[in-house]
Amino acid sequence: IGPDVIDIRKLYAQTGMFTYDPGFLSTASCQSAITYIDGDKGELLYRGYPIEQLATQADYLDTCFLLLNGELPNETERGDFHKLVTNHTMVNEQMQFFLRGFRRDAHPMAVLTGLVGALSAFYHDSTDINNPKHREIAAIRLIAKMPTLVAMAYKYGVGQPYMYPQNNLSYAGNFLRMMFGTPCEEYKVSPVLERALDRIFILHADHEQNASTSTVRLCGSSGTNPFAAIAAGVACLWGPAHGGANEACLNMLEDIQRQGGVAKVGEFMEKVKDKNSGVKLMGFGHRVYKNYDPRAKLMQETCNEVLAELGLENDPLFKLAKELEKIALEDDYFVQRKLYPNVDFYSGIVQRAIGIPVSLFTGIFALARTVGWIAQLNEMLADPEYKIGRPRQLFTGSARRDVPAGFKK
Ligand code: ACO
Repeated sequence: IGPDVIDIRKLYAQTGMFTYDPGFLSTASCQSAITYIDGDKGELLYRGYPIEQLATQADYLDTCFLLLNGELPNETERGDFHKLVTNHTMVNEQMQFFLRGFRRDAHPMAVLTGLVGALSAFYHDSTDINNPKHREIAAIRLIAKMPTLVAMAYKYGVGQPYMYPQNNLSYAGNFLRMMFGTPCEEYKVSPVLERALDRIFILHADHEQNASTSTVRLCGSSGTNPFAAIAAGVACLWGPAHGGANEACLNMLEDIQRQGGVAKVGEFMEKVKDKNSGVKLMGFGHRVYKNYDPRAKLMQETCNEVLAELGLENDPLFKLAKELEKIALEDDYFVQRKLYPNVDFYSGIVQRAIGIPVSLFTGIFALARTVGWIAQLNEMLADPEYKIGRPRQLFTGSARRDVPAGFKK
């Protein structure tokens, strides 16, 4: 296929040989034209556009349109797309009863996995994954309803009434109101927080073939419905090595703070470097970025803006994060292994400052990534070469043997 890429399918057809590659370190599972990452340069492009330009010149719904259609919208397309999404922000009232089946202290990701999967039980006209029209409407429904579902999961957990979507607000503004508004008083959306949240959504919208996206592709390859495939992505994202990292990062910062804060950073770093401790510096390191994560820089900028807006410049966790970053960037352990802050390092601090509870961070990530999952799913299904995903294995179990003659049911 290219100077440094071989098409192993030909080798397999000729010889029956296949590769062993746990963690897919050197296996491309698909061809994709959506997102490009240059890990050495620290570059991230959606459909060719640098993330820095999208984060400053476009909004999240423009980014959704771009990821789904390959081009940024013109004025008319922009208006039509915004209208289409806002038309679908409500969820079926029955979803409330489904939600009520959960314990109030259930983890929001457990709730969200269920709610997203359950959408397939409500929207029967968009469950045929092989029908492009069904996929189109499922895509709009998912993008439109994710903020409503995430906010419902939050409101349920804190025992407050759900807030219906308000469609004259922006995507991020509407989400803020559904999260923090109450029926008792008018909610005024802060432009700084709205912009910060919109940026979080843009930065998390897609990231090529990560674990959750690969999960969505694999799940969708069986022909299941789009809602089920996205629910599988939500479930995968939950893990602390992936979307759960910003939650884990904030928990780590709070832990160090409880033990003495900045004064304890040196001691903590020694633990991180001790391979037997099992402690990692959460929010650091990335499978692909081995120079820096461009999203982390943008997030740090947003972090400064949000903390200034809220008068939290002296926030102890922010100070702690800066100290950890400073030490890590000068420490041989991190330098040699090319470990830099990833997007999660600062996004947790921003979300916490906005008032989002730690347990909901991954839900926000899922909300933002939904469009990427759909774009990747559509790309796979439109590919004439697409097949059901079916990895091979290297069998290491016992050879054929007989059940002992005396063993009976
Ligand atoms: N803290 C301490 N050591 C680390 C860290 C870390 N955060 N990340 C990697 N290392 C070490 C490893 O122990 C390993 O050391 P070794 O060579 O001595 O064995 C070396 O750096 C290479 O690490 P790998 O685990 O091989 O790198 P990989 O690419 O497989 O893992 C991952 C990437 C999972 C992100 C890892 O860096 C990590 O666990 N980071 C913390 C969790 C995190 O922040 N995840 C968010 C990812 S971004 C996202 O999902 C949006």
